[in-house]
Amino acid sequence: MTTYTTETQTGSTGQPGPWWRGAVGYEVYVRSFADSSGDGLGDLAGVTSRLEYLSWLGVDAVWLTPFYPSPGHDHGYDVSDYCAVSRRHGTLEDFDTLVSEAHGLGLRVMVDIVPNHTSIEHQWFASARRDPGGPDRDRFLWADPAPGGGPPNNWLSHFGGPAWTLDEASGQYWCHLFLPEQPDLNWRNPRVRDDFDAILEWWMDRGVDGFRVDVAHGLVKDVQLRDNPQIAPVVAGMDPFDAFDSFEHRHDMDQSENVEIFRRWSQVCAPRRAMLLGEVNAPWPDRMARYVQAGALDQAFFLQSAFLGWDPETLLTMVRVMHDAAPHGISWVLSNHDRSRPVTRFGGGDVGVRRSLAVSTLFLTLGGTPFLYQGEELGLPDGALRAGFHDPVSVRNAGATHGRDGCRTPMPWDSSTHNGFSAGAPWIDAESRPPEQTVAGQRADPGAPLHRYRDLLAVRRRHPDTWRAPLEWIEASDPRVAALRRGTIAVVANLSERTTSVRLGSPGWQAAFASQPGCRLDSPANDTVSVPAETTVVLSNDGPLAAPGVA
Ligand code: NOJ
Repeated sequence: MTTYTTETQTGSTGQPGPWWRGAVGYEVYVRSFADSSGDGLGDLAGVTSRLEYLSWLGVDAVWLTPFYPSPGHDHGYDVSDYCAVSRRHGTLEDFDTLVSEAHGLGLRVMVDIVPNHTSIEHQWFASARRDPGGPDRDRFLWADPAPGGGPPNNWLSHFGGPAWTLDEASGQYWCHLFLPEQPDLNWRNPRVRDDFDAILEWWMDRGVDGFRVDVAHGLVKDVQLRDNPQIAPVVAGMDPFDAFDSFEHRHDMDQSENVEIFRRWSQVCAPRRAMLLGEVNAPWPDRMARYVQAGALDQAFFLQSAFLGWDPETLLTMVRVMHDAAPHGISWVLSNHDRSRPVTRFGGGDVGVRRSLAVSTLFLTLGGTPFLYQGEELGLPDGALRAGFHDPVSVRNAGATHGRDGCRTPMPWDSSTHNGFSAGAPWIDAESRPPEQTVAGQRADPGAPLHRYRDLLAVRRRHPDTWRAPLEWIEASDPRVAALRRGTIAVVANLSERTTSVRLGSPGWQAAFASQPGCRLDSPANDTVSVPAETTVVLSNDGPLAAPGVA
């Protein structure tokens, strides 16, 4: 197995600094990426078989969603053994092969660590339940019923209903911010902290280059388990995510002590040059920024965009505020396995593809370590499901929410059976994708989104100023336009529905990448660029540069 040494720890683009500086990551939703065994469920050997494709695409790192032993109540985010591979996804040898082949191709490998909760089948929880006086009990959060009976406080599960389930035998409730089958760990217990240090070490010993940290904002809970303030009424049949958002999560999420845990993790991971990337859902940019202070997490995902439909003004305001709060600490993402795909959210069809590429182009020039979600590079809309729900959130809430199935359908590799994902029937029952939505179909078509994304990644690599140079915003008169300069690079994201012109303040600009054709530079000075609707252009300049102008 290749192990990177300190000397090779330059950024992925060959620049000095940690490997993730300047890198672009790619989320592999393992269940749906590639299945080598034919049982219809994606596996590690399947991922290995497609690494060449990721290398060709030009990403630098791969994040693998959970592949650990799990009863699968939340599709792997309910882990029953943190240091093993589920038989359904392969073996540890498969994992070692994947890491070694990825490293051989220059790709880094990140695994998903799930520290907020275990599976109900984890031996720690089984023992905690079996023996209320035993040493494992305090690894989880238990509480007596409220004085009048019922759950100890008003906390809700993200996935519907109270965040507490009664353990009949002991008469106490256990806490779960997600499913009852995902009991929350007690991060005030030093044994929990020690165990996770060891889990991180164990995976680093196997060669992983970093960790995506699930629910990083959730670990520590209010010591007094106080009620959350309610800010909106909760009504029967409501989407569980809306019910959850009807409370201010003052006591169950984003407690200040979370950052202490990541300071400790950083001490474990930094000497081994492993990246810590958090799923942080904190309410304000300054709260987010706390998680990525020096010596805590290295990066946190910008998840707010994944909740938005096509709302350029809100999006650009959020982006700018978030960037300025943590200029190097944000992993910009437009989608993941929990949200509808951007092409669908942004209007579907060619319109959705155009808008998604315009936003991605901007995101790839904001610094930090951006990630693409599998299939984003194909401009995929959500998959069409044939029958029923698979996501436990929809199943549990009798269809009150469409849940997350649409973004989790198999990666369409080609037009063979099951789009080349598996020889067997996929675990999720979705319509086949047409040839123009497959990797093979798009590789053969130079005008396809796949080539646009690949070109964009190549431009980013060719021009390190796209992520490295200090970013300076250029004021634009339309709130649906964002313009910036960083070193020899300028970027104009025109998300409005009409052409816009931006003065760049110096002559000599050339377009390096445009998400759509039709950008014009006024010659001979080339200091003003005209950008068509819903298009982002990246410009480069080799000459001496003056201060930026005003749109
Ligand atoms: C976030 C993960 O992305 C999601 O898929 C999962 O259901 C929750 N965390 C709970 O682990």
